[in-house]
Amino acid sequence: MIGHRGAMACAPENTLLSIHKAIELGADWVEIDVYLVDEHLIVIHDETLDRTTNGRGQLANYTFKEIRTLDAGLGQKIPTLQEVLEVTAGVVGLNIELKGNGTAKALISLLEKVPEIQKQNIIVSSFLMAELTEVFSLDRRVKIGVLAAENIQDAIAWAGKLKAFSIHLRLQNVTLEWVERAHDLGLKVYVYTVNNLADIRRMEQLGVDGIFSDNPVPIG
Ligand code: G3P
Ligand code: CA
Repeated sequence: MIGHRGAMACAPENTLLSIHKAIELGADWVEIDVYLVDEHLIVIHDETLDRTTNGRGQLANYTFKEIRTLDAGLGQKIPTLQEVLEVTAGVVGLNIELKGNGTAKALISLLEKVPEIQKQNIIVSSFLMAELTEVFSLDRRVKIGVLAAENIQDAIAWAGKLKAFSIHLRLQNVTLEWVERAHDLGLKVYVYTVNNLADIRRMEQLGVDGIFSDNPVPIG
């Protein structure tokens, strides 16, 4: 079970509190979203501040220092990726979703300081093939996850080019044929976002390798 934006059903999304909550609930992995601001990778889903913080407008109009004064819910700051790497090290796997331009290069610099053993428990995913291509060209050891929205055929082709570890499919688009095709190509299949028991059971039957859930409680 992969906690989506930490455990966003239980705590403000993409905060350290949300990540701690996912760990407490028993998630094996947590997923977070990152943007680059002022050369810092910060953990937030939108390119605007309005929905998840007490700030207003585009991230790009703020300095890193200003962003760190904002409240992301329950008094939580918008975390840095560095903070998330520290909290998750040796405790839970980490799926870093690259959301904006320039994130790949900054990520690879940050990962240079991360021990190899921790890197084994990190997957870098994105809908942005330019960013994933940059990750691949800068460090081939990084596990890449290709995010697929509607065009799974294309995503599978990209996964081949980038020697990806996994493909991440939208729940509504998952079929047995796609799961088997991905598995035949050696790709793990993770599905977003799966929150109800009937869908969880259906994904188990299709043999997917993991699901993203807003409430990552392991199901027996
Ligand atoms: O990585 C799976 C999922 O998080 C992708 O969609 O919009 O929640 O980032 P979104
Ligand atoms: Ca995400």
